[in-house]
Amino acid sequence: MKFLKLFALFIAFQIHAQQGGMWIPSLLDGMNAGEMHKLGMKMSVKDIYDVNNSSLKDAVPHFNGGCTSEVISPKGLLLTNHHCGYGQIQSHSTTEKDYLTNGFWAYKLEDELPNKDLEVTFIVKIVDVTPDILTGVNAIADEAGKQAKIQQNISALSKSYPKENFQENRIRTFYKGNQYLLFVSETYQDVRLVGTPPSSIGKFGSDTDNWVWPRHTGDFSIFRIYADKNNRPAKYSKDNVPYTPKHFLPISLDGVAEDDFTMVFGYPGRTSEYLPAVAIEQIVTELNPAKIEVRDRTLKVTDSYMRKDNAIKIQYAAKYASTANYWKKWIGESQGLKKSNAVAVKREQEKQFQEAVKKAGKESEYGTLLADFETNYKAIAPYAVAREYFNEIFLRNVELLKNTYKFVQLEQILKTKGEQAFTDRKNNLATGLGDFYKDYNNTVDEKIFEQVIELYVNQSPKQFLPKSITAANLTQLQNELYHQSKLTTFEGVKQILSGDTSTIIKNLNADPAFQFVKEASTAYFTNVEPKYSELNLHITALQRTYIKALLELKTNPRMFPDANSTLRVTYGKVTGYEPKDAVVYKPVTYLDGVLEKYIPGDYEFDVPAKLIDLYNKKDFGNYSENGKMPVCFIATNHTTGGNSGSPAIDANGNLIGLNFDRVWEGTMSDIYYDPAICRNIMVDARYILFIIDKYANAQNLISELKLVHPKQSKTLKKKSLQK
Ligand code: ARG
Ligand code: ASP
Repeated sequence: MKFLKLFALFIAFQIHAQQGGMWIPSLLDGMNAGEMHKLGMKMSVKDIYDVNNSSLKDAVPHFNGGCTSEVISPKGLLLTNHHCGYGQIQSHSTTEKDYLTNGFWAYKLEDELPNKDLEVTFIVKIVDVTPDILTGVNAIADEAGKQAKIQQNISALSKSYPKENFQENRIRTFYKGNQYLLFVSETYQDVRLVGTPPSSIGKFGSDTDNWVWPRHTGDFSIFRIYADKNNRPAKYSKDNVPYTPKHFLPISLDGVAEDDFTMVFGYPGRTSEYLPAVAIEQIVTELNPAKIEVRDRTLKVTDSYMRKDNAIKIQYAAKYASTANYWKKWIGESQGLKKSNAVAVKREQEKQFQEAVKKAGKESEYGTLLADFETNYKAIAPYAVAREYFNEIFLRNVELLKNTYKFVQLEQILKTKGEQAFTDRKNNLATGLGDFYKDYNNTVDEKIFEQVIELYVNQSPKQFLPKSITAANLTQLQNELYHQSKLTTFEGVKQILSGDTSTIIKNLNADPAFQFVKEASTAYFTNVEPKYSELNLHITALQRTYIKALLELKTNPRMFPDANSTLRVTYGKVTGYEPKDAVVYKPVTYLDGVLEKYIPGDYEFDVPAKLIDLYNKKDFGNYSENGKMPVCFIATNHTTGGNSGSPAIDANGNLIGLNFDRVWEGTMSDIYYDPAICRNIMVDARYILFIIDKYANAQNLISELKLVHPKQSKTLKKKSLQK
């Protein structure tokens, strides 16, 4: 009997150990440590995060706030994804020196390329400061007042908490306002491009293969962190020297086998794992479809021009990739949520929650939570839809509108902050916008406008639109915007911005693009934004109470805080999955698959001649496995956007891969994680080494690395023990 109970527990544990989660590295002791060791981890959790000694966290900086990266050499060499370094690679590219197409390799330090606006941030220390931040908050009755007090406490403690003068303090909320952690961090601002494969390797399969397994992308690029002579953060200077890290990751040459332990360490951006059913329903039926449609039209236009014209292809490559990325993700997410019946599953969980509340005698505190969610989400729906259309059309996909909005803000600044702030901002725009116009094509943008403005007029809730904009005057509007506005060229902008303040304001207000964007944004900020914010504030308060209740009632022992761009650990094991009836996906892909997908001359599936040559000669160096070259693998690590570039780490703390994506069937994992089909995708570290060494001949980089054989040394040890 006892045995049976134990056995049942064991099974339950086995299942739970697979269920994802993004955990705080300083709080792994206990349940997480137990699960990680069960899954095969050999290190202790102190090897992952330690304040007093160097640990893995010291090798894993946030890459420019959006991706993750890892230090892989004692001289500050930094690995991240090709798609994370894409903006930098593109900014160094021209039609003559096209690093996107041909790749780039620095064979000596002097050749490494400095980057404007690129920084990496290391976490020095994590401290729980919840009591400090919540001091005096409960005494305040209204939600806005509470939030203001919290902000006040946050800014006071960020200032007073002890740190070195080259460090920063940042405080972030976890569990939707139920926990606050302070991060002491160090930001390095001189980060140079060292190497990148051509897109035909680094972006192989492009948008067709994006979010899809089986995958064959060598999605990596290499940078180097530079510091001042004292190894401290410093702005770019030719006198800076390569950064000496507190820790760097050795790289395993032994690869992965099915069921191996893996952990991914990085900065997941945002998840919403604890949404009520009504919110998920809204995402699937209203919000995702609106965003998808706007981007669908934008992408079709851009694609048609990029295929015809190489200069446009270079101008729009990065913008296209980033717009396409979430467009495709939302499609997958909606499908996955439907297929896994996420709404029904959540409704069932909510029933159980309601019963647990009753059982615990907490009805007065939590009894109406779910009903309140229902009311507020229904009320916010039209505002939320209007907000998506406004954001997608005016602030994201139509570049003339997005750019003009900056001038509308400029006028606002004059009204709210005065002449000096206005002049500073104006000067900023006058210099900064050069980069924008370098990649702007008026013909492409006009076509995008034509396609999506119709959605704004016909699909966005009509009651919120400005009166003057109707379906009847769209052609005329388009003509005025794209053929009469000064804001379509950098020259025009410079003209408009010359002269004294009142002339600038007068000229702006006479410009048709300015007039239109001002009218539309005024309508948005009068009719939509205030009500949206008000309802959203209620929802935020409800979410905080809901999370508090879930934590208190302990209905789920593995409750992790939603991702919030802070450092997290996720762990699991290498394993395939069954995407649909009768289909089984294996967990590892090989170079053979690259050749299977090869379409000569295709912009997504071309393969460089040199790679084909290496493949034919089986010239794989030390990096192959039974005569084959591994390329990518998948595992059950629970990751999200921001985890790109994260190191995949083996049981002993060595690098085995580089995280870059998730599988199609599991893209809904930000909202509903299903352990049966959610997998993260990584490039095998050996493929990266092979490309650097054999393809690029950059032995200068290989010689900086620490290459190890953790599995061989284990078998060697075993053998010597047997003797
Ligand atoms: N889907 C991955 C992520 O969200 C990779 C995106 C880059 N690749 C691409 N083809 N756009 O970032
Ligand atoms: N590709 C994503 C990133 O850039 C990772 C993911 O969403 O799985 O962070």
